[in-house]
Amino acid sequence: MRPSFLSEPVRVRVPATSANLGPGFDTLGLALALYDDVGARITSDGCRVEVTGQGAGELPDGDEHLVVRAMRAGFDALGGQPSGLAVECVNRIPQARGLGSSSAAIVAGVLLARALVTDGERDLDDAAALRLAAGLEGHPDNVAPCLLGGFTIAWAEPDDPGRAVTLPVAPDVEPTVFVPQERGLTAVARAALPATVPHGDAARNAGRAALLVHALTADPTLLFAATEDRLHQQYRAGGMPGTAALLAELRAAGVAAVVSGAGPSVLALTRLDEEFTPGMHWTSQRLPIDVAGARVYRGRLGHAERDPVAAGRKS
Ligand code: HSE
Repeated sequence: MRPSFLSEPVRVRVPATSANLGPGFDTLGLALALYDDVGARITSDGCRVEVTGQGAGELPDGDEHLVVRAMRAGFDALGGQPSGLAVECVNRIPQARGLGSSSAAIVAGVLLARALVTDGERDLDDAAALRLAAGLEGHPDNVAPCLLGGFTIAWAEPDDPGRAVTLPVAPDVEPTVFVPQERGLTAVARAALPATVPHGDAARNAGRAALLVHALTADPTLLFAATEDRLHQQYRAGGMPGTAALLAELRAAGVAAVVSGAGPSVLALTRLDEEFTPGMHWTSQRLPIDVAGARVYRGRLGHAERDPVAAGRKS
């Protein structure tokens, strides 16, 4: 049966995320307090998307826009499409930098669709929303923290591309992200990975990933050892030499630094001082961990949500 749609507008705030965290390839992720705000309402026909902030003037309009594609998938899961859509994105998460902008768009779209349908939360609960979002993204390690907040361990089952648990992070962990001007494509970074890896490397990574869960939740003094990776960062280094150089510099100084997601941003899981300002092509920012995950509200985007900077810092 076709769903019944709500006429009032809805909006969602979705956090940036950093996936992998070193050894936890395609599994571990962290939500960061930098947000996109997206508003949506049902219209009588057509599909319009307005973008301000990151990606403005570059992202496709209408049904090609990733938020709309995710909304369409959400509406399909809920029984049918509305007559028309108007979507407004206020983007603060840098695009194509390894900070989860595509996962944020996907989670926003799925949650907006759910919020625009009567009884949407009953018919598409959080587990189903995560499954849908992970299927759209292709891996669950960004969509899980984006939806749930905090530190997540995500995995896939043969019949479910996205399962996840959240764990509390020790209070003194304070991430810093380093974002270059250059962009990276996850598909290119994934194509750089070998089909097989040495058994010793896989075994070492399993140990470090397990240790990282302990280090992040209970003993941050172990974060440096716990963030060592041998499964993806070395294979991708040639495609992002600036990232590899900064990572090497930070780690040589004993900083628990990793490539953020598929790069090219770098994430340091510790408080840093100015010594590590990496130059004019990079911006660095301390981003606290977001613990709430994606949040949906009734009503249109207001003044605060449209602020291109300030609202991005609120947790
Ligand atoms: N785990 C994914 C990868 C994250 O590294 O390819 C992409 O954002």
